[in-house]
Amino acid sequence: RPYAAITGIGGYIPPNKRSNTDLEQFCDTSDEWIIKRTGIKERRILEENLATSDMAVKAIQDLATQYHKNLNDVDALIVATSTPDMPMPATANIILEKLGLTNVWAFDVNAACSGFLYALDMASALVETGRYKNVLVVGADNISTYVDLRDRSTNILFGDGAGVIWLEPSLEGGIMDAYLCSNGAGKEFLKIEAGGSLYPIDSNLPVNDNRFLKQDGKTVFRHAVQSMSDACNTVLQRNNLQIEDINWLIPHQANQRIIDAVGRSLNIPQDRALSNIEYLGNTIAATIPLCIWQNIKKLNTGDLVMLTAFGAGFSWGASIFKW
Ligand code: ACO
Repeated sequence: RPYAAITGIGGYIPPNKRSNTDLEQFCDTSDEWIIKRTGIKERRILEENLATSDMAVKAIQDLATQYHKNLNDVDALIVATSTPDMPMPATANIILEKLGLTNVWAFDVNAACSGFLYALDMASALVETGRYKNVLVVGADNISTYVDLRDRSTNILFGDGAGVIWLEPSLEGGIMDAYLCSNGAGKEFLKIEAGGSLYPIDSNLPVNDNRFLKQDGKTVFRHAVQSMSDACNTVLQRNNLQIEDINWLIPHQANQRIIDAVGRSLNIPQDRALSNIEYLGNTIAATIPLCIWQNIKKLNTGDLVMLTAFGAGFSWGASIFKW
């Protein structure tokens, strides 16, 4: 069976910046506190009249240009997002229409911050069967729409962005393994309640209680460190690998302190745990492809790269690919 290899990567980050100082006008916080507790200096915010699909389209166009890909070759598109343009149709369909593509199997996956890893595993399984030859995997979120600017426990963390990879069969190497998990017991600790069938958008619940992202930051932090570390160890063990065999760890970018704690727990040198959170914040499903995109020049042929993520649900996992 062939591997599913990453043969292209693209990204898009909106031009508008929201700095820590900008946030000081909405709530009682400070640049110093935010940098110390999260490592974040600024995040990007999508213009109001645009949506998740617009960022995804730009990321895909960036990939096609940089890697000389013909988008007409795409036979499947999986979009990891928890901020779709609308409940129906899938954002994947909207992206296809904007790119002028038809006859592509396209659908969305919602696994919050773990969405890209979930979609990547599904896409690699499609390629490994031999039935799909060119699969796009997008991670894109316009999470700023769901952030309450007055809530300092969340507004400091999140930003918008989109990343995409192209997968195709290869005998040389590619996605080697993935270990993914979910546990619904985590559903109370990180959520956006309104807009679904339980609390439709015209619900009588007070706006503040259900429209914005809410979290128990400390609980999420603790579970994130433990679950990402455990998932990495599981995927290492079942591939008979040691942490020394891994050239790069690319973790979900939630908080620099979470990245550092996972790195310490795995005992990987700090300079091999890649991070771009300082200037982008947490872009939900986009963090991992954007981090690969921005660090692509560091990767050498044959390098082993371990990805790990944790998000709402709870959902989490880790995967390894050979570059
Ligand atoms: N500015 C200034 N002070 C603040 C702020 C702020 N933005 N937020 C909290 N504080 C204060 C608190 O009131 C508290 O004050 P007190 O000691 O007088 O009571 C103090 O700072 C410490 O607050 P904590 O909540 O304990 O701060 P903590 O170190 O836990 O950091 C944070 C909070 C940044 C939210 C952290 O818990 C976190 O990152 N959690 C993970 C959440 C996350 O990543 N969610 C994203 C989705 S899931 C994922 O991506 C993994």
